[in-house]
Amino acid sequence: MIMQTTLTDSVEEAAAILNSGGIVAFPTETVYGLGAGICHSEALLQLFRAKGRPADNPLIVHISSVGQVAEVASEVNLQAMMLIERFFPGPLTLVLKKNSSVPYSVTAGLETVGIRCPANPVAREFLRLACCPVAAPSANRSGLPSATSWEAVMQDLDGKIDCLLRGTPSAIGLESTIVDCSEGRPVLLRAGAITLEQLRAVVPEITTMRVTEPEKRPKCPGLKYPHYAPRASIRLCTAGEQIDLKGSSAASIGMSEPPEGVSLSRVCRTTEEYGRELFGFFRLCDARNISVIYCELPSNEGLGRAIRDRLMRAAGLS
Ligand code: TXA
Ligand code: MG
Repeated sequence: MIMQTTLTDSVEEAAAILNSGGIVAFPTETVYGLGAGICHSEALLQLFRAKGRPADNPLIVHISSVGQVAEVASEVNLQAMMLIERFFPGPLTLVLKKNSSVPYSVTAGLETVGIRCPANPVAREFLRLACCPVAAPSANRSGLPSATSWEAVMQDLDGKIDCLLRGTPSAIGLESTIVDCSEGRPVLLRAGAITLEQLRAVVPEITTMRVTEPEKRPKCPGLKYPHYAPRASIRLCTAGEQIDLKGSSAASIGMSEPPEGVSLSRVCRTTEEYGRELFGFFRLCDARNISVIYCELPSNEGLGRAIRDRLMRAAGLS
């Protein structure tokens, strides 16, 4: 179905469209989100269709203030409380036991819900004006790199969503850190800008390894799907590695000097810049018909862990 997508700078207009049952893309500090009110069941269905998202992949529920956690969670244990106190609002999603206001279409049938309170002021104002909490996956077509600018959202979703609230490019550029605090020892499900080191400074017992019992459902269903992949193929490399380009149109991104002979390259001075630039660079490479992108793997610490995770997935290696 083709529809008219309203492009606006007005938070009030975007919230009015959401409150009348529309689906609205909006900026956050991680990546752009595509929101539907959890009280609008038709909008939730439309959201899955617009993204081409499988129905068994749950959505994160976004709130405008810490006080709203109780509107969606039925149980907040001490560890969760400490993480909320330290990192909300910000780029952290907590998985907690849901309460009855959250429909199963949002959680893909799970008894838990991912909850995030973004720090971006435009996002917070939009969520404050929303008449109920807002379920929002990243605002990209399923499988493609997340959108980190309003232009990238338009590229993927123009004509498929009711409204795009235009904002600045995403300050972080990588999706939120996800920690499951719904039972037992907290588990890091997805690395992000809140690093494992920062999390452990508050809750030392956080683990990165889920105990997989074969009879148990996967804990973070979305992670089984291909993600973040541009059309170009991704090759992972280390700093200074010798690369034989063999005439293909190649590009590179990383923190050291680009390999000789690439037709497009991005050298980032910090891991923060690398994270912010990564998905936009993937999209640029596709627009320029690049066939191979060489990506330098940063070390597995701090924000490097999140960048490595996205690169491995984009390369189809995890
Ligand atoms: O930064 C972000 O988190 C962005 C912005 C828009 O907030 N959102 C985002 O949503 O990245 P999405 O849908 O692209 O990724 C959400 C991930 C999926 O892998 C999903 O499976 C997982 O969160 N998830 C959501 N609810 C869950 C739950 N109850 N239990 C486990 N994993 C959950
Ligand atoms: Mg996504």
